Amino acid sequence: LKVDASSQLARKIPDTLFGMFFEEINHAGAGGIWAELVSNRGFEAGGLHTPSNIDPWSIIGNDSSIFVATDRTSCFSRNIIALRMEVLCDECPAGVGIYNPGFWGMNIEDGKTYNLVMYVKSAEAADLTVSLASSDGLQKLASVTVPVAGTSNWTKVEQKLIAKGTNRTSRLEITSNKKGVVWFDQVSLMPSDTFKGHGFRTELISMLLDLKPRFLRFPGGCFVEGEWLRNAFRWRESIGPWEERPGHFGDVWHYWTDDGLGYYEFLQLSEDLGAAPIWVFNNGISHNDEVSTAAIAPFVKDVLDSLEFARGSANSTWGSVRAAMGHPEPFPVKYVAIGNEDCGKKYYLGNYLKFYNAIRESYPDIQMISNCDGSSKPLDHPADLYDFHVYTDSKTLFNMKGTFDKTSRTGPKAFVSEYAVWRTDAGRGSLLGSLAEAAFLTGLEKNSDIVQMASYAPLFVNDNDQTWNPDAIVFNSWQQYGTPSYWMQKFFRESSGAMIHPITISSSYSGSLAASAITWQDSGNSFLKVKIVNFGSDTVSLTISVSGLQASINALGSNATVLTSSNVKDENSFSNPNKVVPVTSQLRNAAEQMQVTLAAHSFSSFDLAL
Ligand code: AHR
Repeated sequence: LKVDASSQLARKIPDTLFGMFFEEINHAGAGGIWAELVSNRGFEAGGLHTPSNIDPWSIIGNDSSIFVATDRTSCFSRNIIALRMEVLCDECPAGVGIYNPGFWGMNIEDGKTYNLVMYVKSAEAADLTVSLASSDGLQKLASVTVPVAGTSNWTKVEQKLIAKGTNRTSRLEITSNKKGVVWFDQVSLMPSDTFKGHGFRTELISMLLDLKPRFLRFPGGCFVEGEWLRNAFRWRESIGPWEERPGHFGDVWHYWTDDGLGYYEFLQLSEDLGAAPIWVFNNGISHNDEVSTAAIAPFVKDVLDSLEFARGSANSTWGSVRAAMGHPEPFPVKYVAIGNEDCGKKYYLGNYLKFYNAIRESYPDIQMISNCDGSSKPLDHPADLYDFHVYTDSKTLFNMKGTFDKTSRTGPKAFVSEYAVWRTDAGRGSLLGSLAEAAFLTGLEKNSDIVQMASYAPLFVNDNDQTWNPDAIVFNSWQQYGTPSYWMQKFFRESSGAMIHPITISSSYSGSLAASAITWQDSGNSFLKVKIVNFGSDTVSLTISVSGLQASINALGSNATVLTSSNVKDENSFSNPNKVVPVTSQLRNAAEQMQVTLAAHSFSSFDLAL
């Protein structure tokens, strides 16, 4: 394998090449990175009709001790449903009430503080007991008495709960032992140690930070479109005080979200990750219905408002709402995607042009992403980038590493915003899939004069609700691990902004190899990284020869990192999270000419200190 590292043939990879796509799918947000422990905190998930299903809330007591029903008496006009709890027994011995198991159980940890907020109304004074308890209610990890004054007004209660024990599948209980009626609404329980105090689950965010993402595409995917427009993500309903957000049912992935993780929080997340925000907005098109171009104007205005919310000064109409939420400085939204996977739909082009022209006029620096694939033929409409999605089997993806080799070098750039091996040979995220993906990414690096951005999809899955398989990061209430596809991405985290160099491979195995070479700098130190995928089942010996370097290779500080396993179908799991993870060792023979051995079915990175 020859690397020509001379500066004349080097080309800079875009600073944005590798980033992330976060979609509210698989409970990635609600019950995922958004640390809210209460599910259906406003009792809104059952719909606006009353009585309604309060799932997953449930009752402590029985028919003769308690009667619980929803009504429309909330103090919040945008989410009017509240819960009315009537305690029927006098001096109920053990207390009766309601409990919420969160998202398949709350992770309550010894010594940690949990912040409870709830809105309560009771005509007569009452003492409520708020507890964190095991799923059967028998073990109490924290318990406090909350006195409620007798008044006809709603009162906001804020209470800290400190856990005296750990239980991964806990529930929040609110009980009373006195006859009377109490109303509840907007019951929230947040751990006090969220990432930067911004509401994100710290350990999941660390896994993202480890990949050094340069952009964050959000909030979907199909989630943005909805099966029906009435269920699509609406940024306006997801901002402002959390208590006032109506929440919505994501009908593509079939679950309710309180929209605690809303448009503002996505912008905040991008900032916290050091990633450029890419706002995918609904373009008036869902999976089953469309707004005609003649009637799209209010949707265009809505998107312009969303951009003012993100970018406007703190004195502007929508910028002031952002500022009131705690972020007076604008969020630097430089990219928007006009819809998701809607190319070819009846009103796509017409609607697209309305959005495109209005955004270009108001925000000339914003780069706009079309849903139509321009990799093999030119687009018939203006765009800065076009979206490219691929989900396929491992062999096909491996062979797709040359996809952009012949793409026209003029015109819009490519955004490979969703790629993954799936279905036939994907397992639940196998080494095999990750090798094909790695090969595909080496092809994107080589074509990064035309490919500007790429992200794996989907990013997260809550193990209790896997609607899409496989995914990069698997978690439950308290554990998480990366699939091989997650670890594969770590090999590319230095690529954005690095220099790429031409390579040639002459080997009888070249049909099953894929490789790339970059140089990059870290804290004043320079490195050459040669990445090689061996997709075949034979061990391969290669000589790596490097020419054209301005500095010599130093064995000290040079490493080899390998992602492999004894079986190409191997996967990680909660019981064995490190079965397929990269292993790094010192590269003692690092030099301009060196022999390397590539294990069968492996992805290797040779990081040479200069
Ligand atoms: O990543 C899962 C889904 O795949 C996305 O929602 C959609 O854009 C694509 O079809």
